[in-house]
Amino acid sequence: MENIPEDFKRDFYCGDLRAQHIGRTVWLAGWVQRRRDHGGLIFIDLRDRSGIVQLALDPDRDPAAHSAAEDVRNEYVLAVHGTVSPRPEGTVNPKMPTGEVEVEIDRLIVLNTSKALPFVVDEYADIAENLRLKYRYLDLRRPAAQHNLMVRHKVAQFVRSYLNENNFMEIETPFLTKSTPEGARDYLVPSRVHPGCFYALPQSPQIFKQLLMVSGFDRYFQIVRCFRDEDLRADRQPEFTQIDCEMSFIRCEDIMAIMEKMIAGVFKTVLNIDVTLPIERITYAEAMRRFGVDNPDLRFGLELVELSDLLSQTKFKVFRDALDNHGIVKAINAKGCAAFSRKELDDLTEFVKVYGAKGLAWAKVQEDRQWQSPIAKFFSSEELAALNEALDAQPGDLLFFGADAPKIVNESLGRLRGHLAQKLGLVHKDEFRFVWVTEFPLLEWDAEAHRYTAVHHPFTAPMDEDMPLLESDPGKVRSKAYDLVLNGSEIGGGSIRIHTSEIQHKMFDLLQIGPEEAEEKFGFMLHALEFGAPPHGGIAFGLDRLTMILTGSESIRDVIAFPKTQKAACLLSSAPSPVAEAQLRELGIRLTTRAVKQQES
Ligand code: AMO
Ligand code: AMP
Repeated sequence: MENIPEDFKRDFYCGDLRAQHIGRTVWLAGWVQRRRDHGGLIFIDLRDRSGIVQLALDPDRDPAAHSAAEDVRNEYVLAVHGTVSPRPEGTVNPKMPTGEVEVEIDRLIVLNTSKALPFVVDEYADIAENLRLKYRYLDLRRPAAQHNLMVRHKVAQFVRSYLNENNFMEIETPFLTKSTPEGARDYLVPSRVHPGCFYALPQSPQIFKQLLMVSGFDRYFQIVRCFRDEDLRADRQPEFTQIDCEMSFIRCEDIMAIMEKMIAGVFKTVLNIDVTLPIERITYAEAMRRFGVDNPDLRFGLELVELSDLLSQTKFKVFRDALDNHGIVKAINAKGCAAFSRKELDDLTEFVKVYGAKGLAWAKVQEDRQWQSPIAKFFSSEELAALNEALDAQPGDLLFFGADAPKIVNESLGRLRGHLAQKLGLVHKDEFRFVWVTEFPLLEWDAEAHRYTAVHHPFTAPMDEDMPLLESDPGKVRSKAYDLVLNGSEIGGGSIRIHTSEIQHKMFDLLQIGPEEAEEKFGFMLHALEFGAPPHGGIAFGLDRLTMILTGSESIRDVIAFPKTQKAACLLSSAPSPVAEAQLRELGIRLTTRAVKQQES
């Protein structure tokens, strides 16, 4: 092993060499992807973050370099000097960007050796994710991983310069802070100096960015880590990154216009795709009516059709019971799917049951628009004709019905819609369909806790025209909140905020947060609203989710350098882990017997 030689000066990244560089002498540095000994000639694929180039070592041309190459193994770290040359006739590799050239080496310096890796650094190797995460620094050597982090970097760079050009100031807000309500559990940090007291890691910088508006910064942004202790899914991490923005003297329309230009800029920069502006907008009510979910994927049809009115006189018991109990009946027409087998229908029924549906009535539409269906006999010919009409049922179609409380029907048919689209191959991976969903409800009734909770967060402003309903029918109040949805994924959300303490107090009342609790938890925020808070609003985008979509990644872990597992653990560093007794004592913390038992197991 040697040090970097005195005269080393890297001229190129490996993956950047092309035919136009033939004849140049170059220094390169990188890792050995592969070494092939052709009994005389040795070839080495040298890899750095830009890609791979082939090195050629000829014993006749340069015996010293060639003999140094004999000991080289995979993942050794090299510095090499040589001449860029055309590959001999017949050995050009059109699949490699550098496939027209090779570098004839005259010096080869081994900067470090490597043990055999626990897995091959290969794009296509199928390696268990736990092993990859344990050796994440090796996993990140894979070109796909390097690409994903490069895309993430490009998004962040573009966003930073766009927001800077639009007068946004980047300001940092604290991590050791008080709880910010975004609907998840807090991560707590014990204080040594104040025994028995805890900081909460921010679920978002929400309160602080609003305070910055009160301070007069007018436009703020931050690319910032947020912490949420919630159940993890494929698109959720316990710590994730927001592109967080806030503006003063602004309306919904203005925020959406500035932000959709930014997102369009990201797509142009990263994928060279032109996003058509303005982005389509639909209200929450329309999204629920047509798609059953508030994050609809608009790349395919299969819309939900409401049939409650049409079926108001129905005698079919399942539908009758639902309608008599404040429920609804909706249906989806799966065009041309009448050939689905009994097993397929049973599987789909099981699928909707996960979302609380009690069953999934279906009807296959035959030549004469008659139904082949276990429920056909319950409808008059007039009803059947009207249903066919409403659903645009044609011979060969398959109709699915849901009848229950609106929440269950919407969720189960909404999910069924996505599931069917996947099954039928209607989802095109390279298509990008954006939609703003607006006018979210302000509050949601929590039947278990017997109180309202905020749909977005408790600082979101009600719509002006719905203000009178705050007293009479709070559940009906719509808010000035909006989400940006891309291909069925919520990539950002925000709102106009409450900027007077009267309405903020009123909101806390509705949420059954008493004056004392409000003062204790959010007093600093409530006071700030009394000192000349400007009208303001903002939004936050999920940088990880956006990067996932831009890179076509299946998992959020693929776009984060050092992600956590589904169980919120870091397999690389073994966090979280027990700490020394002394450290706990210093913090005034004693573990329960249960915790100690679990620790040992
Ligand atoms: P919200 O809670 O909607 O809004 O979060 C904004 C965006 O952050 C992303 N996101 C996540 N990404 C990965 N893992 C998670 N656990 C996770 N949770 C959220 C989503 C989401 O759209 N303070 C408000 C914003 C505002 O009102 O300005 C907020 O945090 O893409
Ligand atoms: P049943 O009368 O319970 O045998 O149901 C007749 C058909 O209606 C079956 O295909 C069930 O899957 C379906 N079904 C039952 N409950 C519901 C419901 N809540 N919504 C839609 N279909 C249902």
